[in-house]
Parts: sequence; C-alpha cells; structure tokens
Amino acid sequence: MESFYIVGRNQLNGSVKIDSAKNALLPILAACILINGEVYLKDVPKYNDVVAMTKILTHLGAKISWNDDNLIVNCACLDACDVPDELARVVRSSIFTLGPITARLKKAKVAYPGGCDIGLRPIDIHLAGLRQLGIKVIDKNGYIYTDGEKISSNDVMLSFPSVGATENIMMLAVFAKGQTRIFNPAREPEIVDLQNFLNKCGAKISGAGGNVISVEGVNDLHGCEYKAISDRIEAGTFLIAGAMCGGEIELDGAVSNHNQALLTKLEKTTCKIKCYNDKIILKSIRRPKSFLEVETAVYPGFPTDLQAPMMALACVSDGYSMICENLFEARFKHVGELLKMGGDIRCKNGICIICGKKKIYGADVESTDLRGGASLVLAGLVAEGYTTVKNIEFIDRGYFHLEDKLSSLGASIKRIKSEERLDNYN
Ligand code: UD1
Repeated sequence: MESFYIVGRNQLNGSVKIDSAKNALLPILAACILINGEVYLKDVPKYNDVVAMTKILTHLGAKISWNDDNLIVNCACLDACDVPDELARVVRSSIFTLGPITARLKKAKVAYPGGCDIGLRPIDIHLAGLRQLGIKVIDKNGYIYTDGEKISSNDVMLSFPSVGATENIMMLAVFAKGQTRIFNPAREPEIVDLQNFLNKCGAKISGAGGNVISVEGVNDLHGCEYKAISDRIEAGTFLIAGAMCGGEIELDGAVSNHNQALLTKLEKTTCKIKCYNDKIILKSIRRPKSFLEVETAVYPGFPTDLQAPMMALACVSDGYSMICENLFEARFKHVGELLKMGGDIRCKNGICIICGKKKIYGADVESTDLRGGASLVLAGLVAEGYTTVKNIEFIDRGYFHLEDKLSSLGASIKRIKSEERLDNYN
C-alpha cells in the first residue's frame, strides 16, 4: 500500500507531456481480441487498468510484450472465451471484452465487472444491444454467457448514450454481415479513436462522434501500428491544478477541442488560457474566482471524471460554487475527505454547494476511487501544511507517475510506503 505525501502551497510552472488516454486504450485493448495479427500500440502508459486488461488478454491466449513504452498485442491464437471473476473484478472495462469475444469466438462467459465504486454501474444497455444483434444472452450467477452463432446486423437503439455499451456494440458488429447502425451512441472522443483504430485494422465504421454510427461487416481484421489520443481527463486534472496553485503550465499533446466544457468553466476563474494545435497553456496569477456551477453530462457536456477535481478547485475559489453530478449516484466520496481539509461543502440529492475558503489545511485522507483520489492530491497541493493521500492504487489506475509530473512542475509530492514515517521527509 502506498500513499502520496504532499507539502502544499507551491506554484506550478513548466511543461508536462499528456499521456495517451486510459479510456481510449482500454477499448482498443479489448478490440485487439478481434484481430488476427500483431497490434503495435505506441506510447502506452502502464496505468493499473491497462495492466489489468493485458492480464485478461493473456488469460484469453494473447501474446503480450512491452518494447519500452510500446505495447505489442497478438491475438492470432485465442484459446479461452471466458473472463473469470478474479480478473473481471479488477477493472470495469473487463465488460468491453464481451462484444469482441462473442464476435470472434461466437461464445463468451464474462464475469460482472468491478472497478471504482462510484455507483451502481449496471450493464443492461450493453446486454440489450447484444440481443438486438441476435446474440443469445444469459445472465446467471454473476456471469454473462453469450451465444453468437446467430449474430446478424441490425439497427440498435441505445436507451442512453453509454460509452461502454457503444464501444461494445461497435466491436461486436464488426464481423456481422451487412450494416449495423447504432442510434443514440455516446459521442466521446474515445469512441472516435476506437473507430479510427478498427478502421486502420480493416473495419468499415463511420459516424463515430455523431448521432448514428454505422458498421459494415467485414470478414476479418489485420494488425496495425497505432497511437491512442491524448488523455483529456489527465489534461483537465493538470489544468485544474494550475488554476488552483498559480503559475504558468504548458500541457504538451493536450487537445483543447476535447476539453471545451472545462475550458469554458476555467475562463470564469480569471485564469488566462491559450490553446494551440497540440498544447494548452494556462496562467493563473491570483486566487481563482468561483466557476459558479458545473453540471456533469455526457460528451460534449462537462465530464463526470472531472467533477471531483473541480470540487477541490471550488474549495479554494473566491465565492460559492454549485456542482451537480448527473451520471453516477455515489460519486461524492471525496467530499468527506475534503471536509477534513477544511473544505466547506454541503450536499443533498446529487448537488453540492461549496463555499470557497482562502485556505484549506493538510490532513490524512484516503482515496476511494480514481478521480476522487486525484481531487485530494489537488487539494493537498494548495493546502497549508502537509497532506497524506492513502490508497493511491486507485489513482494509479488512470494517472501514470502523477507525482513525477507534478514534481517537475514544482510541486512537493512524494510516493511513500503507507507505513513509512512521515518525519523522514520533514
Ligand atoms: C466511461 C468511462 C468513465 C466515465 C464514464 C462516463 C471508460 C473506460 N470509462 O465509463 O471514465 O466516467 O464513461 O463518461 O471509458 N449505464 C446504465 N446501463 C448500462 C451502462 C451504463 O444504466 O448498461 C449508466 C451508468 O450507470 C451511468 C451512465 O449510464 O449512469 C454512463 O455510463 P457509461 O457511459 O456506460 O460509463 P462507462 O462506459 O462505464
């Protein structure tokens, strides 16, 4: 068990490189199951969730190897069609394997997914989509069993634009003869990236990012070399950190178009933001003003994954802010920890009102999920005194060497064994 030990109140200055997106890599790794050949994925950070997905692929029979930061996946020979509970419970995205295993091997047995505890996270939309493509689905004893012998293309209407369900159905439809159309799909940039990856492997998919996705069935897919898009949530986390800590930071590789909802909010806080082709520069010279309100929504609305980091910003902004979480009902677990640091937050029915304070104070706090953990790190960076953030394995799910990147910008943050004595660093 490791923790972050943070001494607060340093400005952030300098430049960091934004990594490839976790939420793009996870479906791309699942899509490798469809591919009869070698896929060379460039610049892949060893996020805990990515490593967990490679273990699932290995269990299925894939050959996995690393060449520095590049990940090579070969699913030419698959000899299992199941994802057991002990592998599925580690990562929510294990459910992404259901579509591709069924498409490639015509049957699958996948355990219910685990992942961060941020709410109920049902999979009914995934299963309804599978059934609309002629898949027989049995949901029994914590496992989903599929029979894909009678797979056929069809029009699929999603009852909600779920990211994972859209990706699962896109992957399932790749080998279904004829045209499948997915109506009301999620429109996140990671969906477009999955389309681009699959098309590079020989698929015929169009419309991702829009209102209808069309998949023309093909007979097989071949390997390719690919680099996933940059991580808009990592970029967003650094932008929020910059707004809170003051200074001037440059995010190399960040795509401003993918973060419009956040940038609009940050502009209200008196930060100066400049967007270029593949970088964003943020300058913050005084205490940020309140961004007033944020309501999470599907893309291109405000991302739920940046709700917790925005809460940390609200805690130190000048004025009141309101945050409304519309996607995950249990995604406020960071609130109790921010209260320990002197945050003034009241929550009811999925809405929090935050009264920004001039100062918050360091404390021993615990992350209970990935983005909630990140919000505690941000709070620690501006808090007076020192903060220990425990259970950082949650943070490692979706940030790679976060402490090194923040240190390179001037933050005082170290990774310590949880049992280590803190006064070693005092
Ligand atoms: C993905 C992202 C996650 C992000 C989320 C919302 C990845 C790996 N993860 O998660 O970081 O927070 O999108 O942007 O890409 N729902 C159902 N039934 C279903 C599926 C979803 O009711 O079958 C509901 C969920 O409970 C939630 C909403 O739909 O309220 C959105 O979930 P979804 O878009 O599916 O999120 P994920 O794909 O799990």
